[in-house]
Amino acid sequence: MTHKKKPGLSGQAKLAGVIGWPVEHSRSPRLHGYWLETNEIDGAYVPLAVPPQEFEHVLRTLPALGFKGVNITVPHKEEALRIVDEATALARRIGAVNTVIVREDGSLLGDNTDAFGFIENLRKSAPAWDPTAAPAAVLGAGGAARAVIAALLEAGVPEIRLYNRTFARATELAAFDPARVKALPWEMRSDQLADIGLLVNTTTLGMGDGSLPLSLETLSPEALVTDIVYVPLETPLLRAARERGNPVVDGLGMLIHQARPGFEAWFGLAPVPTEALRDMLLADIQEIKA
Ligand code: ATR
Repeated sequence: MTHKKKPGLSGQAKLAGVIGWPVEHSRSPRLHGYWLETNEIDGAYVPLAVPPQEFEHVLRTLPALGFKGVNITVPHKEEALRIVDEATALARRIGAVNTVIVREDGSLLGDNTDAFGFIENLRKSAPAWDPTAAPAAVLGAGGAARAVIAALLEAGVPEIRLYNRTFARATELAAFDPARVKALPWEMRSDQLADIGLLVNTTTLGMGDGSLPLSLETLSPEALVTDIVYVPLETPLLRAARERGNPVVDGLGMLIHQARPGFEAWFGLAPVPTEALRDMLLADIQEIKA
């Protein structure tokens, strides 16, 4: 770490970024930029808009460009898993890479930090929640759900009830751990909520003007409710849960925590998730919406 008394970057600045197509909606440049600035690190984190047909070439060129690594976002996460030289067991299990680290020898290590971001957000925001105490219900079986299920299984959740509009996707995901993950029909999503300790929405319902994805009538009043969507910050599900007195955790923390392992690997410093950072991201989200 060098103190940035002079403007701009030095010739030794550490480089990282996020690759997506499109990439303009990514909040990662602001997030990492905030940590770079507040820690006065001689480094840059840039948005890289790369179309699918260029993705492999760009990823393989990163070591030659001197990049320490990158985040990967939509639509490249699955393709990144295929391209990297080595992937962590967790990334392989989830089937997607969101963090790439360029190693000393120039090879690419692929990891997935979404599961860490999800569970760390719950642990930090709802320390009273005991993952091993009760079943969890998960709505959705897309890419985000894969990371959520991997995280919940790792945390020791005894049973996961998985509901998805397309039942076949839920069945496929239940194969993660057939003894603990039960694929259930989407129509049943409001029926078995009385004994759960955690309810997670990973579907895109609730984004923008979306509506409440299920009825909370029978939900235990102690159950923790979380949504991985963070625009709006308070989704219809979180609002309904809060209004009936359930503890709730919004999705912005997942974004922040999933960024921590990459930042530490690329820039050599463990970043601290502060309220000021959260406020900055919130203001940014509100500005984009306005
Ligand atoms: P992500 O990677 O963000 O999880 P995704 O893979 O496209 O995105 O998954 C989106 C999830 O939202 C899926 O579970 C999807 O259900 P299907 O598998 O049936 O497509 C769910 N979803 C999206 N729109 C929905 C809707 N109108 N009703 C119910 N589920 C919906």
